[in-house]
Amino acid sequence: KPLLFSGMQPSSDSLHLGNYVGALTNWVKMQDEFQAIYCVVNQHAITTPFDPADLATRTRATAAQYIAAGIDPEKSILFVQSQVPAHAELGWLMQCITGFGEASRMTQFKDKAQRHGTEGTNVGLFTYPMLMAADILLYNAAAVPVGEDQRQHLELTRDLANRFNSRFGETFRVPEGFIPKESAKVYDLQDPNSKMSKSAESDAGLLRIMDDAKVTKKKIMRGVTDADAEIRFDREAKPGVSNLLTIYSVLSGQTIASLETEFAGRGYGDLKKELAEVVEATFTPIRERTNELLADPAELDRILDRGAERAGEIAEATLATVYERIGFPRPL
Ligand code: TYM
Repeated sequence: KPLLFSGMQPSSDSLHLGNYVGALTNWVKMQDEFQAIYCVVNQHAITTPFDPADLATRTRATAAQYIAAGIDPEKSILFVQSQVPAHAELGWLMQCITGFGEASRMTQFKDKAQRHGTEGTNVGLFTYPMLMAADILLYNAAAVPVGEDQRQHLELTRDLANRFNSRFGETFRVPEGFIPKESAKVYDLQDPNSKMSKSAESDAGLLRIMDDAKVTKKKIMRGVTDADAEIRFDREAKPGVSNLLTIYSVLSGQTIASLETEFAGRGYGDLKKELAEVVEATFTPIRERTNELLADPAELDRILDRGAERAGEIAEATLATVYERIGFPRPL
């Protein structure tokens, strides 16, 4: 089977709906066709301010949510990035073949650096995409399922793979992105022109899997819409309503067109109330399963240690080849 790699940052004790729709649903679907490798990228997570105890908790909570959402640790390899040192090692090499100007063009860095200010921005945030390239290339992944916001990082990964191959000899497989169509991008409920993100200024527009059902419902009911009271998909003119329809469609499997028919002549309140039910029907079982998994830390550790061993075997073999190509003694 071809290999697949993807990861998420443990940036909170709960994944949000954007992570779920943009990535996790595809991860679950792709497990049979690929040998999938899913990583909790805790080394990426220390590029912005964090608390160590909290990071440890969030790392396990993220892994538990992968499993609860349907990642099968028997089928797929599930592991925590820092447990496989080859990521940091190849990450360094990737930094050394990346141009400074090239790295400076990464829009996510520019956004985050602006948010954290010069003082709050560390160099790791700048070199973050090179670590991401290492994550992917270590496994010679054929496919990388991510949301639209990771497209530029994936392009950089492809450029770096090609560059390494032409300079040092054919080594890496150039990965293909797997980015769901634009309609599967989830926007903030309060600011439907920005993507749903845990780093938004307020969390009023953020739907989190681990939140209480009441909190989720309230956030949906308060979601921004528009004044013309017509339930119709139109990203430009009606971003709020279109976002609600997208979420409804992805979670229920109904097409947008059939939802437009179903809700014709009805009010936004109806749409929101039903959407809250659809979202909860998705979140509740994941939340319950996550809590069960977190209640047995020894078992979760066993799963993650085993995942790191399996991932490490593949990663170390790639790193050994890479070291040979660039004239380093073989890693011990
Ligand atoms: P991260 O942790 O920010 O997000 C995890 C995944 O969720 C997707 N996503 C969204 N999709 C649709 N709508 C949204 N509002 C939304 N918000 C987030 C992201 O596109 C992503 O797929 N750099 C990566 C993590 C990473 C990685 C990797 C991914 C590190 N190494 C190697 C793939 C392969 C990141 O920060 O994702």
